[in-house]
Amino acid sequence: MLETLADGVLQIRLNRPERMNALGFETSQRLHETLQSAIASDARVLLIRGTGKAFCAGADLKERRGMDAAQRAAHNAAINVFIQALANAPLPTIAVINGAALGGGCEVALACDMRLAANDAMIGLTETRIGAIPGAGATQRLPRQIGTALALEIMLTGEPITAARAAEIGLLNAAVPGELLDEKAHALAAVVASRSPLGLQEIKRLVYAGFDLPLREGLQREREGLLRVLASNDYVEGLAAFAERRPPKFTGA
Ligand code: COA
Repeated sequence: MLETLADGVLQIRLNRPERMNALGFETSQRLHETLQSAIASDARVLLIRGTGKAFCAGADLKERRGMDAAQRAAHNAAINVFIQALANAPLPTIAVINGAALGGGCEVALACDMRLAANDAMIGLTETRIGAIPGAGATQRLPRQIGTALALEIMLTGEPITAARAAEIGLLNAAVPGELLDEKAHALAAVVASRSPLGLQEIKRLVYAGFDLPLREGLQREREGLLRVLASNDYVEGLAAFAERRPPKFTGA
């Protein structure tokens, strides 16, 4: 379900509270379609949030139980298509973690650019508890986010951690009181949405591409990205707004 929170700010709402917003096969396909509509829109920031008690309890284990090995693989592939598309989204994304983010739910959050959580949300990669392993990006994204030893502790134990601990180790941008979560997330989104979309997309591309590049090449890409931004109308507008002491009106051109 896609909600408009403000001008340029959209939110995907995971909406299966009776299953703690678990990712079933069809749910994942529908989420992917919703994500594509959000990307195709003129949104400048995208939030993703759970409905009810949980953010997302990962793969739908009830659905999974009746599957044979080929169906389990197809189910995982559908989850990955959604999560990879989320990671590749050109616009900035924020996970609004209203409750438990476990297994694939944690991986949805890890595919976002920023993560805010309610203080009482538990976050974990619980797959090893049921004889599986993280299979939607966490083995790669979590160590890049928080370092190898802590990432391995979370994945090898399968034990969830508190939002406070997750914020302390850099898995979250912040943990906030539950009643303030939406307010804080919307405030963050509003600031990001007020910046030039061109620049934001350039920053995202540079940061993630940089993980796979030698420093020298990453710096070269930064230079190329900067030149594109310096040639943009938004930069001309930014300079004019600064000189005229007014807020800029960026159009993304
Ligand atoms: N898939 C399918 N259904 C799920 C689910 C999942 N991943 N997680 C929770 N549910 C269902 C429960 O089966 C229960 O359904 P029921 O009411 O028909 O019995 C309902 O959601 C509520 O869950 P419950 O466990 O009773 O709530 P809780 O508040 O005590 O605990 C969780 C919530 C999320 C902490 C707990 O359900 C949990 O640990 N889920 C599994 C998460 C997990 O390990 N995911 C990784 C998969 S690899």
